[in-house]
Amino acid sequence: MRFAYADPPYFKHGKRLYGEFHDQAADWDDQETHFMLIERLMDEYPDGWALSCNPSDLEWLLPYIMVDVRICAWVKSFHRIRDLVNVQHSWEPVILKEGRVIRNRRPYLRDHLVCPIALRKGLPGAKPDRFNDWILALLGFNPAEDQIDDLFPGTGGMAEAAARMNPIRVVGDQQTIFGLLGDTA
Ligand SMILES: C[S@@+](CC[C@H](N)C(=O)[O-])C[C@H]1O[C@@H](n2cnc3c(N)ncnc32)[C@H](O)[C@@H]1O
Repeated sequence: MRFAYADPPYFKHGKRLYGEFHDQAADWDDQETHFMLIERLMDEYPDGWALSCNPSDLEWLLPYIMVDVRICAWVKSFHRIRDLVNVQHSWEPVILKEGRVIRNRRPYLRDHLVCPIALRKGLPGAKPDRFNDWILALLGFNPAEDQIDDLFPGTGGMAEAAARMNPIRVVGDQQTIFGLLGDTA
């Protein structure tokens, strides 16, 4: 199977956060660029994909997607505090489409992850290792036979997560996954 993870500059944060890292970062301040990304994910990755975004973007992204997806949640147990904000922002959605179906899955996999943000990665929005592990688990990624395309690799954490992952082993009619997170809290 061939999967994709997309972690683009979030809407309205392109030029501000990534202008110094990429010449076309400002493109992501236009909703149309995000719609084109969704088209690409739908066209090129029928086996499954995951897309990170800000909670406020769900309002306009989901009506555009118009297909069956799951909204998973990365809850940040440690995060930036903004003094002027009324209610702190402490989670990010992951829009999940398809992925490998694994029956009788053990350990159980949750549609939420609780873990701290990554620090000192040198790139705003760089994802922590546990987050990347969780994305691969959500997609049912098997390193022995699957491909994961990280469309916005940044610090390269997703490739490292794929490289350190152990293959799925089939035990009788039950697939057991080793090397993945069970209780992620
Ligand atoms: C949210 S970060 C990705 C972080 C990555 N998941 C990680 O854990 O390191 C978004 C990335 O997209 C890059 N980027 C910005 N504009 C881009 C564009 N127009 N095309 C491709 N990549 C772009 C940024 O430089 C940055 O590396």
